[in-house]
Amino acid sequence: MHQLAAFTHGLLYALLFAMPLSGIAAYYFGYTAVGSLHGGILKILLWAVIGLHAAGALAQHLYFRTDVLRRMTFG
Ligand code: HEM
Repeated sequence: MHQLAAFTHGLLYALLFAMPLSGIAAYYFGYTAVGSLHGGILKILLWAVIGLHAAGALAQHLYFRTDVLRRMTFG
């Protein structure tokens, strides 16, 4: 469980940098191959990780009944 959360967070942080950088590389510097990654695999990966992150938060709240979601929202 903690490993899955760490993996999801690691990927989320990596994509946080990879998405805008690949977009900029494609748009401003004409790297079309990087642009395909941006709108292809990176986009799909980002959606998957967003889904995992939200599912994990809901599972913590509704199934494991921890205060993780409360800490994520109201602090
Ligand atoms: C976190 C930041 C970003 C996210 C989540 C994001 C996401 C996306 C998505 C979902 C698409 C549509 C792909 C498709 O289905 O066809 C796209 C396309 C594109 N993005 Fe980004 N993007 C980001 C940042 C940027 C930046 C900073 C630039 C450049 C300044 C950029 C340039 C482009 C370009 C040129 C396209 C292709 C548009 C087209 O030809 O249809 N993106 N991006």
